[in-house]
Amino acid sequence: MIRYHLATYGCQMNEYDSAMIARKLEARGCISVDTPEEADFIIVNTCSVREKAEETAIARISKFKPIKKKNPDLKVVVCGCMAKNRGKELFKKLKMVNFIVGPDHYEKIPDLLLGTYPTKERIFLEEDLEQNYVGDFAKIQNHFSTFITIQRGCNKRCSYCIVPYLRGPEKYRETQDVLDEVKMVADKGITEIMLLGQTVNAYKTKDCDFPQLLTKISEIGGIRRIRFTSPHPRHYTNELIDVLLNNSKVCHYAHIPLQSGSDAMLKKMRRQHNLEQYMSIIEQLRSKDPYYGISTDIICGFVGETEEDFEWTLKATEQAQFDSAFMFIYSPRQGTESAKEVETLTEQEKLERHGRLVELQNSITLKRNQMMLGRTEEILVERASSKDISEMVGKTDNFKKVVFKPQGIVRPGDYITCKLNDIRGWTIRGEMEK
Ligand code: 5AD
Ligand code: SF4
Repeated sequence: MIRYHLATYGCQMNEYDSAMIARKLEARGCISVDTPEEADFIIVNTCSVREKAEETAIARISKFKPIKKKNPDLKVVVCGCMAKNRGKELFKKLKMVNFIVGPDHYEKIPDLLLGTYPTKERIFLEEDLEQNYVGDFAKIQNHFSTFITIQRGCNKRCSYCIVPYLRGPEKYRETQDVLDEVKMVADKGITEIMLLGQTVNAYKTKDCDFPQLLTKISEIGGIRRIRFTSPHPRHYTNELIDVLLNNSKVCHYAHIPLQSGSDAMLKKMRRQHNLEQYMSIIEQLRSKDPYYGISTDIICGFVGETEEDFEWTLKATEQAQFDSAFMFIYSPRQGTESAKEVETLTEQEKLERHGRLVELQNSITLKRNQMMLGRTEEILVERASSKDISEMVGKTDNFKKVVFKPQGIVRPGDYITCKLNDIRGWTIRGEMEK
């Protein structure tokens, strides 16, 4: 048996791609193992979005050196965004790497590893605008919920972001291909789907746009919850908002990146939306459902960000009442537009702003969680609690984690009902109704 080990960094799109590679390897008879020491093949799927993400992946790959020394037949593939970004340089730096494979060449990985690829090439980085991975479904991540990528690449060119340079322009998966994958997973018992794309709500094919796709998926038997990430504020049309609020299978939760609360910064970031437009989306969603879950991404300390700009971000965060936020310190990425500018803040100043934002958001997260107390909610059960295995953890429709004591036999993947009655730290606790 040939054993492979897959390590994935970065976003959910990378997790989906890794699952797609896993399915291809398993179709060729390979089996997955948990540690690199047991593996014949190691595949590292990498991220470049911030410098730290690259450093983490390089440190991890360096650790394979002694493993390769013990097992010279071990083959290592580096794929994903960092492969594309630092390709040839990685070969020089990390001698144990056999193949560097960019995002448009994953179908080659099994042949490369199994030695059946027709040439001796080792680097595959060229952009392939035709590559749409038709019929290449992913290995199901667990038996009740799975990711499905519907869009690759990005056309937005935000001035800080390296992704469009690495992943190329937007490509949408054919609607029938997406629906076939959803049907395939629904037949296997999956009830929750997470649709993925860099700007997922920009989805458009000749047959279908994003709101229509949501509707079509909701009509597939067995699907109970539809989620998606990440939408771009620019593409919240009235049609989309209508489906989001009126289709009962589409969950009341979205991760909508704001990036900054200052219009001057949003302009400089080339975000294609201002604060007012962003807030109007939140208002429309929350005026119909005050519990509508909203999370966001915010960058602190962008080039040129003044104290006043940052205060706008604090004000916007307060006004938006995000359920949670990923808060990043600006990291200039070589090749992007904003990296050409000289930074105006020290690391210490950026860190200080980040700390102030985190503190504010923590208090808002707590408030939003407290708001849930007293409600009776449907929970999709995910797993046993890691702190106490007599308890279980699941999620509400609006993506709140809930811990509860099971009554009778409860399995991951079950839908149960809980009365939310307590909060410890940030964690909501519920009493299961029989
Ligand atoms: N520096 C810091 N954060 C970044 N992001 C993207 N590029 C950068 C960068 N250069 C953040 C954005 C994006 C998330 C995936 O990563 O907030 O939404
Ligand atoms: Fe990282 Fe972005 Fe690439 Fe995902 S798309 S792997 S987050 S750089």
